[in-house]
Amino acid sequence: MSSMPTVITSQNPTKTREKVLEVKNLRVHYETPKGDVIAVNGIDFHLYKGETLGLVGESGCGKSTATAGILRLVQPPGRIVSGEVLLNGLDLMKLSESELRRVRWTEASLVPQGAMNSLNPVMKVKDQIADGILAHTPHISKQALKERIYELLNLVGLPGRVYDLYPHELSGGMKQRVCIAMGIALNPSLIIADEPTSALDVVVQRVVAQTLLDVKKKLGVSMILIGHDMGLQAQLVDRIAVMYAGNIVEIAPVRSIFEEPLHPYTQLLINSIPSIKERKPLKVTEGLTHDLRNPPPGCIFQFRCPQVMDHCRQVAPPLRELRPEHYVACHLYE
Ligand SMILES: Nc1ncnc2c1ncn2[C@@H]1O[C@H](COP(=O)(O)OP(=O)(O)OP(=O)(O)O)[C@@H](O)[C@H]1O
Ligand code: SF4
Ligand SMILES: [Mg+2]
Repeated sequence: MSSMPTVITSQNPTKTREKVLEVKNLRVHYETPKGDVIAVNGIDFHLYKGETLGLVGESGCGKSTATAGILRLVQPPGRIVSGEVLLNGLDLMKLSESELRRVRWTEASLVPQGAMNSLNPVMKVKDQIADGILAHTPHISKQALKERIYELLNLVGLPGRVYDLYPHELSGGMKQRVCIAMGIALNPSLIIADEPTSALDVVVQRVVAQTLLDVKKKLGVSMILIGHDMGLQAQLVDRIAVMYAGNIVEIAPVRSIFEEPLHPYTQLLINSIPSIKERKPLKVTEGLTHDLRNPPPGCIFQFRCPQVMDHCRQVAPPLRELRPEHYVACHLYE
């Protein structure tokens, strides 16, 4: 079992803001014949009311597993090993399956990775959106249901004609916006969108990103936005959490992350954003360098860190608050 990161906080006034979500020591493993893959290694973070938190990190670092863990949607061979998830003060880990089904969609919804490709090809958009609404409000009148679907399409910037179309008649960006409409159909206070803009071309990415911003503004929801693109995240989110190999290594307001990235991995991510002003060779970011079944003692970033010290190979750095709201897990700042 790998060492568990701890969180060290200092007092500061922003702590009085209302928290929609608190995630404490969430740990998710996948069982394999060769041992457990430690996909999420005891992460801690919170989300304020009306805030958008970006979750970034390279492929395989555990972003989707972490959000599946939050909503207890982890599928075998995955299992939640530990954790507390407080949504508006309610511990989701302690709910029964039926209580949890009520919470999903009505209080928290997930737009899963690749959602637009999972739309049912033989069902019209109106029926797919209606399904989610009817599952939670079966007695809604036909007229109210129709009006609600039109209202949702309008909220995500889609024309009314989409109501009667099949998924194959829509572009990628339109399909993704249908998925967002499904996610907000029951007015949740939290939306988790897993890579909503990947697999779309750059222009359409911006349209979908703008849709998310509009939805957030109109509905005042809190959002977790998973993505690879640091540039796009910079425009969309309030704070960024950087994940590496199942751990949150840095979390801070977006401005602080870009102005003063503290963790060597965050610095690598930011340095790899191409710039037209300053042409330089593209930085190649390697993938994860160790087997998640067998994490090394000490810091999980030690094999790629240009500033690694002896101490890093022995002791895992705790996530500590170095500046107000700026947390980092690195021995360089002790
Ligand atoms: N069913 C599974 N069995 C074993 N390992 C798994 C399984 N599903 C995921 N994993 C492992 O868990 C880790 C986290 O996966 P996850 O899908 O959460 O990453 P991610 O950050 O969302 O990646 P991406 O950016 O590619 O979507 C990965 O290393 C992956 O190999
Ligand atoms: S703890 Fe050490 S190895 Fe880890 S990121 Fe910091 S300097 Fe690098
Ligand atoms: Mg993913």
